[in-house]
Amino acid sequence: AMKSIARRSDLKAYVEKTPAIYQLLQSAAAKYVTGEKRQDGLEAGRRLVDKGYAISLEYIGENTTDVQACEAAALELSLLIQALAERKIPARVSFDLSHIGLSIDGELAYKHLTALASQAQQVGIELFVSMEESAKTDSILWIYERAAAAYANIGITLQTQLNRTTQDLNDLQPVPGRIRIVKGAYQEPEQQTIPRSSALNERYLQLVEQAIRKGHRVSIATHDESIADEVIKREWIHEPGVEFEMLYGIRPDLSSRLKNAGYPVRIYLTYGHEWYLYLCHRIAEYPPNLFQAVLDITDV
Ligand code: FDA
Repeated sequence: AMKSIARRSDLKAYVEKTPAIYQLLQSAAAKYVTGEKRQDGLEAGRRLVDKGYAISLEYIGENTTDVQACEAAALELSLLIQALAERKIPARVSFDLSHIGLSIDGELAYKHLTALASQAQQVGIELFVSMEESAKTDSILWIYERAAAAYANIGITLQTQLNRTTQDLNDLQPVPGRIRIVKGAYQEPEQQTIPRSSALNERYLQLVEQAIRKGHRVSIATHDESIADEVIKREWIHEPGVEFEMLYGIRPDLSSRLKNAGYPVRIYLTYGHEWYLYLCHRIAEYPPNLFQAVLDITDV
């Protein structure tokens, strides 16, 4: 439901023109989003790097249907890559293909993706493509596979909750890029998905194993402690290129425990004006956040 709320432009307009509500939601979002500006992401990222974490940075946005706005998003990502290189901050740059053209024309997204990959490759930075709702999975994989054949510095996110993912992972065998396994943040048609459950967790572990066996570098992107503990128990965390990855602001106790135990942990940070959208996503995947937001807002 929060997904559809995120897309309701009337609600967004209401939030934007009602200063009290705008400020309240913005303060709730501050837990998950570093700020509106590139500089906010860079500063928060630097602090985490100094503490011993690796980082990913996302400039928030999706479903951009205006060509100029897609160009502006691609430009922002390019400036981000440049800023990371200049400041020597080792980071991965993450984004949605629908932020840079997919909602208009797949070729526009492809053009931006390959241009960014070429720039990033020259400065030793890796890019990461997020996975969006299932209506877009085919086109995202198609664009990714073509781009990753030319640029080894691009990785892709796969969602455990989709039934099709085992097959998708098989099909990615010839593509060398890193694979990030997530549970999946989108509400999907029931017949295509497995809901949050121990069966889903089992499948998550199977996908991690499958990806490692096929020689991929793998990001285990979850805040589920039982999965993290199992990955350690099965010693997969010692395989080359395997790491934990978690969202900024979620389970910092778990990320610091894993880091202090000596495991590689990456934190995924975001910045941008679209923090409202990002807040809706985090609430949708974990509804208790709605109550937390109210508590934060009312300062109880
Ligand atoms: P699960 O949802 O079962 O949560 C496990 C525990 O983590 C909860 O019990 C709670 O303690 C805590 N938790 C989880 N979510 C929380 C939240 N929002 N707020 C507070 N606590 C929370 N999805 C997608 O569809 N496409 C993508 O490209 C990405 N990319 C991505 C990158 C990275 C680095 C991460 C970590 C996640 C994503 N996701 C994603 C989101 C992912 O699909 C999933 O929705 C979230 O990671 C939450 O699922 P968990 O695996 O944490 O398990």
